[in-house]
Amino acid sequence: MKLHLESKDIDFHQLVENSLNSIWIVGQEGKILYYNKACLDLFHLKTSKDIISKGIWLFLHPDFHDKSRERLRRILENQEVLKTAELKMLKSNGEEIDVEVMSVPFFIKDKVFAQVTMQNITHRKAAEKLLNNREKLASLGQIAAGIAHEVKNPLTSVKGFLQLIKESQSHPYLDIMENELMKALAALQNLLQVSKPDLHDEPLVSIDLCNELASLIYLFQDRLYKVDVELDLRDSEKKIVGKRNLFQKAFFNLLKNSLEAIEDKGKIRIEHYYKNDWIHIKVTDSGIGIPKEKLKMLGTPFFTSKTDGTGLGLTQVFTTVHEHQGNIFIQSEVGKGTTIHVQLPLKEKS
Ligand SMILES: Nc1ncnc2c1ncn2[C@@H]1O[C@H](COP(=O)(O)OP(=O)(O)O)[C@@H](O)[C@H]1O
Ligand SMILES: [Mg+2]
Repeated sequence: MKLHLESKDIDFHQLVENSLNSIWIVGQEGKILYYNKACLDLFHLKTSKDIISKGIWLFLHPDFHDKSRERLRRILENQEVLKTAELKMLKSNGEEIDVEVMSVPFFIKDKVFAQVTMQNITHRKAAEKLLNNREKLASLGQIAAGIAHEVKNPLTSVKGFLQLIKESQSHPYLDIMENELMKALAALQNLLQVSKPDLHDEPLVSIDLCNELASLIYLFQDRLYKVDVELDLRDSEKKIVGKRNLFQKAFFNLLKNSLEAIEDKGKIRIEHYYKNDWIHIKVTDSGIGIPKEKLKMLGTPFFTSKTDGTGLGLTQVFTTVHEHQGNIFIQSEVGKGTTIHVQLPLKEKS
């Protein structure tokens, strides 16, 4: 049976009022003349009084006021249908949201208004950012690995010739040279390992991360006198499938960073739990924290703030987690501490 509705049979008011997209009608100077229910959800408003009296500016991030003023002018004066735009808006509690807006002229009698349809794309933007960051790190890792590879070969042959010279004559500098060369080669080998973890054909095995995390702290016994380590390891029956050595190294690197971030006395908390199809591992320290502008550098090969740092620890962590289709989130506050949150997909070993 074909169901056919005439437009006179449709309650358009209900259609707009209950739309899941937020819609409002805006007049001169950003005055809001109409809004649908979804607007209240979008901006986290309990009552509708505020939305009408305050106008659109209250809900727009200040960085987007000029752009929005111009868009409104083009609709009201030129009656243009505008291209979709992405804006930052503000909820009533001040929280920022990414919103995609579509704006078209709306006519009431002979007057023009702007009909604006808004969709919250905060989650989509966050996912895009994560993906971009991941690609950036992967390509940086590949460049670093490429350079390491190119430099390693000539250095290895220099080392060979040096050994030949040492056999025929002795000179105190030769030992120093060999030592320095060994250091350079070890650094390159290290870089190759962390930026291209798939170089090693480690088998995929079922891993009980709780077990790994619990054993890990024994490796740091000598430094634990100054920190309280709290383990909260739950859901140990949930196992991931992956490369065990890579994970051992990754969590070693995280714990090492946390210990190094604690100058005097402090706390480290290690959590493991299962939620929403993911295994979550959190390493939280009460260390020095990371300044906001440095957060986006984390994971970049050679980024370090330590005089004797290599800047390769987090690169290894990121490559390992990404190779296992996981995600990393970092939260940090200077002077308070840092939480590194690793999410890994739960997979059965096939
Ligand atoms: N838990 C943490 N607390 C504070 N800073 C951290 C922490 N983890 C990483 N960092 C910052 O990230 C940088 C890079 O870390 P990493 O890649 O392990 O290299 P390295 O430890 O050799 O410096 C560190 O130099 C430090 O500035
Ligand atoms: Mg480190």
